[in-house]
Amino acid sequence: MTAILQEAARRRTFAVISHPDAGKSTMTEALALHASAITEAGAVHGKAGRRGVTSDWMDMEKARGISITSAALRFEYRGHMFNLVDTPGHADFSEDTYRVLAAVDCAVMLLDAAKGMEPQTLKLFEVCRHRRIPVITFVNKWDRPGREALELLDEIQEKTGLRPTPITWPIGTGGFFHGVVDRVVDQAVRYTRTPGGATKAIETELTPEQALAEIGEDWERAKDEVDLLSAIGSDHDQKAFEAHESTPVLFGAALNNFGVGRLLDAMVDIAPAPAPRPDVKDDPRPLDRPFSGLVFKVQANMDPSHRDRIAFVRVCSGRFERGMVLTHAATGRPFATKYAQSVFGQERATIDEAFPGDVVGLVNATALRPGDTLYDGSAVEFPRIPSFAPEHFWTARCRDSSRAKQFRKGIEQMEAEGVVQVLRSEIRGDQSPVLAAVGPMQFDVVKHRLAGEFNTEIAMDRLDFSLARITDAESAPVLARQRGVEVFTRAIDGELLALFTDEWRMRGVLRDHPGLVLKALLADTRG
Ligand code: G4P
Repeated sequence: MTAILQEAARRRTFAVISHPDAGKSTMTEALALHASAITEAGAVHGKAGRRGVTSDWMDMEKARGISITSAALRFEYRGHMFNLVDTPGHADFSEDTYRVLAAVDCAVMLLDAAKGMEPQTLKLFEVCRHRRIPVITFVNKWDRPGREALELLDEIQEKTGLRPTPITWPIGTGGFFHGVVDRVVDQAVRYTRTPGGATKAIETELTPEQALAEIGEDWERAKDEVDLLSAIGSDHDQKAFEAHESTPVLFGAALNNFGVGRLLDAMVDIAPAPAPRPDVKDDPRPLDRPFSGLVFKVQANMDPSHRDRIAFVRVCSGRFERGMVLTHAATGRPFATKYAQSVFGQERATIDEAFPGDVVGLVNATALRPGDTLYDGSAVEFPRIPSFAPEHFWTARCRDSSRAKQFRKGIEQMEAEGVVQVLRSEIRGDQSPVLAAVGPMQFDVVKHRLAGEFNTEIAMDRLDFSLARITDAESAPVLARQRGVEVFTRAIDGELLALFTDEWRMRGVLRDHPGLVLKALLADTRG
C-alpha cells in the first residue's frame, strides 16, 4: 500500500448533526478532550463567552444562540486522524449544511435522550440520506431523566427508516446512569464522573458478577434488554450500516464525558475511511492519484483582525503540501497555497501536508467558490454541489447611494460564499438585485454582514414569490408575460429561474402553456 493509501485509511472525516441544544458543542469539546487535542473542555467551542470563533456576525450568532459558521477540528485518536467538520445549527442554513455534508464520510446524529428525534435532526438526517452518508446515532444526556431506551429505538426506526443496532446499551438512567454494556465485546463498563466533566471520565470494566454485586437491579434490567436486542437481531451489520439501512446506536452523556470514548472507538472501528470520489464523468478519482480537493465552504472575515477569505477544501485524492501551486478547475487558473491552515474556532495552525479526508483552510481564496475543484497535475473536476430550491425572495437596495460600490461588493461577497443566491434581471437592474434563500434567516445574515463588514445599511423588501423553477431561453419570454411570474438569471450558474407566487399559479400557467420547460430544483419539498 502506498503512503497515501495508508494515510487515507486512517482518516475519519465526519460531522455531528443535531437539533439546537442537544449538546453538539458539549460533544465537540468532549471528543477533542478525549482525543487530547486540547487540554481543557471549553477551550474550543461553547456558549456564554466560550465560543471560539470571533467575527463581526458572531454577535448575531451569540444573540440568537445558534451556530452559523463552519470550520473543522482535527484530532488524533488510536492512531487515526479525525476531521470533525462543524455544521450550522439552524434549519435556515440547510443549504450551507448540505455543502458541508459534501465533505464528510460519516455523520454522528446526536439526540437529546428526553426529546428523541427533533425536527431539525430529521431535516439534517434527510440530507445525509440524500448524500448516502452512513449515520451513527448517539443518545446524549442519559444522565438526565429521559425516555425509555427501547422506546427511543422505535422512534429512530419510525422516523428515519433505519434499523437501529445498539452497540452500547445503558445501565440505569438519569441520576442512576452507571455505565453501559458494550455489546461488541459483551462487557459492562462503569463510568465515574470527574468534576465538571473537564477531564475524561473514569471507566471501569466489570465482570457480570461484579456488575450484579455493585450495580444490582439496574444491571439485571440492562442485561435482560440486551438479551432481547440479540433475540430480535438488532446487532451491528457493517454492510447494512454502509448501505444506509441501519444505524449503530450509542448511549452516553457528553457533559460528563460518559460514552464519548466508545463513540470514538466506534468511529475507528466501523466508520468509513475516505473512498475514491466520483468526478463529473462519474469516474471515481483513485485516492493515490495526484492531489485533488473540493471546496465546500467559503467564508470571509472570520476574524476581524485578518479580514480575509478562507476556502475550506476537503482533500479527495493525493498528498497536499503547503506551497503547492494548484489548478482551479473552473477557470484553469493557478492557485497558490502558501497560506494553508487548519482552522477551528480561534485556533489557526499552519498546515504543511494533508491527505484524503483532511480539511484544509486556504487563505486569500478570492477566486474560489463552494463546489469548486482544485487539482495538481492530472485534471479532474468533481460534480458541483447542487443548490437548494429557494423559497424566500427579497429585494435588497442600498440606503445611502454614495455606498453603491460597497453595496455591490458586499452582495458579490455574499453570493460567492453562498450565503444567499443572487438573482438578476434587466428589468430590476443592478441597484436592487433579488436575493433568494431557503430560510429567511439568511437575509438577516446578509443585512448584518453588509452593515458590519461593508459599512453599508441596506433596505430589504419581501417579494410575493414562494416557488422557483429552472426554465430555458425559449420558455422564458412566454413566462415573463404571465401574471404572477418573473424570470431571473441566477448569478452563480447562469440558470434561468422562473419565480411563481405559488404552486397554484404555476399550475395555471402550465395549463395555458403546456409546452413550457419548468424543472424542479433540488430538495424542493413540493416536487
Ligand atoms: P448545542 O451546541 O447542541 O446547542 O448544545 P450545547 O452543547 O450548548 O448544550 C446545550 C445544553 O445541554 C447545555 O446546557 C449543556 O451543558 C447541556 N448538555 C449537553 N450535554 C449534556 C449531557 O450529556 N448531560 C446534561 N445533563 N446536560 C448536557 P446549558 O445550561 O444550556 O448551557 P451551559 O451553561 O451548561 O453551557
